[in-house]
Amino acid sequence: MSTPSPHCLTLGALIQCRPGFEPDAAAELASRAHAARLVGPVSGAPRSGFCTLTLAEPLPRDLLQRRLDASQLVFSRQSFQVVAVLDDLPERDRLTPLVSAIAAGGERFCRLLLETPDTNEGKETSGFLRRFEPLLDAALRDAGLLRPDSPHLPRLHVFFANARHVWLGFSAPSDGSAWPMGIPRLRMPKDAPSRSTLKLAEAFLTLLTPDEQKATLRPGLQAVDLGAAPGGWSFQLASHGLRVTALDNGPLAPAALATGLIEHLRADGFTWKPRKPVEWMVCDMVEQPARIAPLMAEWLASGRCRRSLFNLKLPMKRRYEELERCRALIDQRLRHAGIKYVLRIKHLYHDREEVTCYLTRR
Ligand SMILES: C[S@@+](CC[C@H](N)C(=O)[O-])C[C@H]1O[C@@H](n2cnc3c(N)ncnc32)[C@H](O)[C@@H]1O
Repeated sequence: MSTPSPHCLTLGALIQCRPGFEPDAAAELASRAHAARLVGPVSGAPRSGFCTLTLAEPLPRDLLQRRLDASQLVFSRQSFQVVAVLDDLPERDRLTPLVSAIAAGGERFCRLLLETPDTNEGKETSGFLRRFEPLLDAALRDAGLLRPDSPHLPRLHVFFANARHVWLGFSAPSDGSAWPMGIPRLRMPKDAPSRSTLKLAEAFLTLLTPDEQKATLRPGLQAVDLGAAPGGWSFQLASHGLRVTALDNGPLAPAALATGLIEHLRADGFTWKPRKPVEWMVCDMVEQPARIAPLMAEWLASGRCRRSLFNLKLPMKRRYEELERCRALIDQRLRHAGIKYVLRIKHLYHDREEVTCYLTRR
């Protein structure tokens, strides 16, 4: 068991990712840490569902947060700064050592997030966690460590790598995901043509601020959906009242057409152009990412759309490298056009072998 660090120091960072993506998550974390002059090993066991950066020397918390904004990492679903690692929790009483380790950190928290990796082993632990959570919650409140009425306080993460091995840490309320383990619980809308409608819903919630959602997802605005069939994304846009031109040689589901807001065109997403600029272009065409990225940049550079949301399919081994290549292609085109832009990328919970990107002018 490592000694909890004094309350102003952090031992490193833990990021949670989709199992199988540890090499990509670790490569990204290592690259970001290197750029931020943070020294220490990065590790992520295969299919463990998480990666860690262990600092060679503990650092003040604010400094780590400023240098490494882990919540911005593409392959991170959830992240926190580590303050202690408890590696042999007794099966009979996990509560006492946990509460004393949390108390030793000398910090108060606004919220408790009990988390596990998103793996089969994690799922086995989650049954125990459901029973354990009210006990830990009550013990922390009794000790004055958990104060839900003080939302400015950090959130406490208790991450059970397995039933006996726990990583303790914290995150600022504005960082990381609001959902434990970064897994949104979204309800499938009635009549939606495909489950991928949830992917776009998650993308809007994750990649846009609430103000951006309000300003850009409203009735009267126009959208284009490249590679739309069977219509899950178009349906999601229509559910916000947008009018959608849906391009695909394949058929759209009747439920999509029944919204009355979606027009289906059998056309090629690589060559078709709108007559007038549109607010949104979304694209889910299954194509090489190095073909999609320049197309997305072109739509923004030529003013065909004000913003776009698209998938880059990454079925290859070295996903992080491919993603960086796509970033460079977008940057090259927009720099050449003298356009300052915002590009946010996330490997969403609903994404499998792909990442989701939001691109707009700054
Ligand atoms: C993953 S599916 C899209 C699913 C859709 N987003 C939904 O929510 O239902 C990919 C679609 O891209 C279409 N597609 C692939 N290449 C295309 C192209 N060049 N032009 C238009 N559509 C294309 C395919 O026909 C396929 O229907």
